[in-house]
Amino acid sequence: MGKSPSFTCTECGATHAKWSGRCDACGAWNAIQEDTPLSAGPKSRGLGASRGAQVALTDLASSEAPPPRTASGLDELDRVLGGGLVPASAILVGGDPGIGKSTLLLQAAARFAAAGLKSVYISGEEATQQVRMRARRLGLADAPVRLGAETNLRDILTTLDAEKPDIAVVDSIQTMWLDTVDSAPGSVSQVRAAAHELVTYAKRRGTAVVLVGHVTKEGQIAGPRVVEHMVDTVLYFEGERGHQFRILRAVKNRFGPADEIGVFEMTGQGLAEVANPSALFLGERDAPAPGSVVFAGIEGTRPLLCEIQALVAPTPQAQPRRSVVGWDGGRLAMILAVLEARCGIPFAGLDVYLNVAGGLRIAEPGADLAVATALLSAREDAAFPHDTVVFGEISLSGALRPVTQTETRLKEARKLGFNAALVPDGSKTGPGLGLRVREMPNLPELVGGIFGAG
Ligand code: TYD
Ligand code: MG
Repeated sequence: MGKSPSFTCTECGATHAKWSGRCDACGAWNAIQEDTPLSAGPKSRGLGASRGAQVALTDLASSEAPPPRTASGLDELDRVLGGGLVPASAILVGGDPGIGKSTLLLQAAARFAAAGLKSVYISGEEATQQVRMRARRLGLADAPVRLGAETNLRDILTTLDAEKPDIAVVDSIQTMWLDTVDSAPGSVSQVRAAAHELVTYAKRRGTAVVLVGHVTKEGQIAGPRVVEHMVDTVLYFEGERGHQFRILRAVKNRFGPADEIGVFEMTGQGLAEVANPSALFLGERDAPAPGSVVFAGIEGTRPLLCEIQALVAPTPQAQPRRSVVGWDGGRLAMILAVLEARCGIPFAGLDVYLNVAGGLRIAEPGADLAVATALLSAREDAAFPHDTVVFGEISLSGALRPVTQTETRLKEARKLGFNAALVPDGSKTGPGLGLRVREMPNLPELVGGIFGAG
C-alpha cells in the first residue's frame, strides 16, 4: 500500500487513485469518497521480506454434510434465506429508511429465539426503550431476545464474544464505528471496516450475523454496496411508500437460490406473511379497462400474477413522456420501438405511462408480451379480456419467444379463476388445464388478431 490516498465508489466499490465527480466503473455521480487506511498497523514491507505460513489444501470431494439450517417458522423469510438460517453466515438486509427492516429483523430474531437459537439484537439507531416499545406493539414483549443499544463495535464484539449468540442482528451497519478507523460513522471506511469485523466474527464464532444497511437513492450515506462483496447473502427489503406490501428479495445467496422473494404486508402489528401473493396483487383490480393486462410471472420459484397498467395520452410536448413504475425503462423503450417498427403503430406525440400494480417490481423479460398488450389496449382504447393472463418475451424482430415454467404460470392462473392465456407459439403448455390457450407467433399477428389494428 502506498502513502497516497485512495478513493472508493460507494455504489460499486471500485477504487480510484484520485477523486472525481463520476465513477468510471459504474457511472454513479457523487459517489466517490476518500478512504482512510483500515488501521495504523505496522507498515507493509512487501512480500519478499518474510515467508508466510503454508496453507492447508484439501480435495474438492468431501463427505461434509450440508450446513444445518434453522427455520424461523416465517416461511416467507426462510425461503428467501434458502431454507433457513445457516450458522456462521453473514447476511446483509438493505432497504430504504422506514421500509420496515428493523420491524422485520426484530420479528425474525424473536422467531429464531422461539426456534431455540440464542438471539441478540443490537440497535445503534434506537434506545432499548424504543425497541421494547416496538416489541410490545408486535406482541413480542416476552420473546427471549437479548437487547443492546450500542454503536461502539469494539464493545459490541466483546459483548458478543461473551454472550456467544447463535444469531446477532446489528441495526444498522451505518451507525457502527471502530476506534481504529479515523473517520465518521457512516463513511465508507467505517462501514467497510465494521462489516469486515462482524463478518470475521461470524466465521470465527459460528454466529449468524445479520447486518442492516440503509440505502438512499442519492447514495448520501455510504451505500451498503461495498458490504455486498463481503457477506454470504444479500437481501433487499423493498416496497412502495403508500402500499402495505413489502418484498424481501435475495439478490445474492451463497446458501440458496438468488432471485427468491418473500412477500409481507405491513400491518398495525408488524409484518404479516402473504402466503398467496397473486391473490393479493390482483385483489386491487378494478373492472375491465383499456390498458390493463394480467401478467403471469415467476418470482424465484413461485408463480406470481400481477396487473400491468398502461396509459397512452396525446401530448403537446415535442418530447413525449415515458414514465415507468415497477419495470425497466429501457425495456419499455424497446417494446415501443418494436411496436412502431414491426407493427407500424406509432407512439410519437403520445405520452406513455406504465405501472405494475401493487408496488411490485418486475425484472423478467417474460413480461414483454403483457406490456405490449397493455400498451396496445391503451393505445386502441379497447379493453383486453379480463379473464386472460399473458406472458412471453418479445425479440427485436417482433417474434414472440416462449419463456420458462409455462405450466406453473398457467396452473396459477387457473387456480385464481382465469379462463384463458395468451402465450408465444411453441410454449410448452402441457396437458389441458381447462384453460383456453391462444398461441401467437409474433407481435404483428397479435395486433391484427386481437386489436384489429395495424
Ligand atoms: P422500521 O422497521 O422502523 O423501518 P426501517 O428499520 O427500515 O427504517 O419501520 C418503519 C415503519 O413501519 C414506520 O413508518 C411505522 C411502520 N410500522 C407499522 O406500520 N406497523 C408496525 O407494527 C411497526 C412496528 C411499524
Ligand atoms: Mg430501523
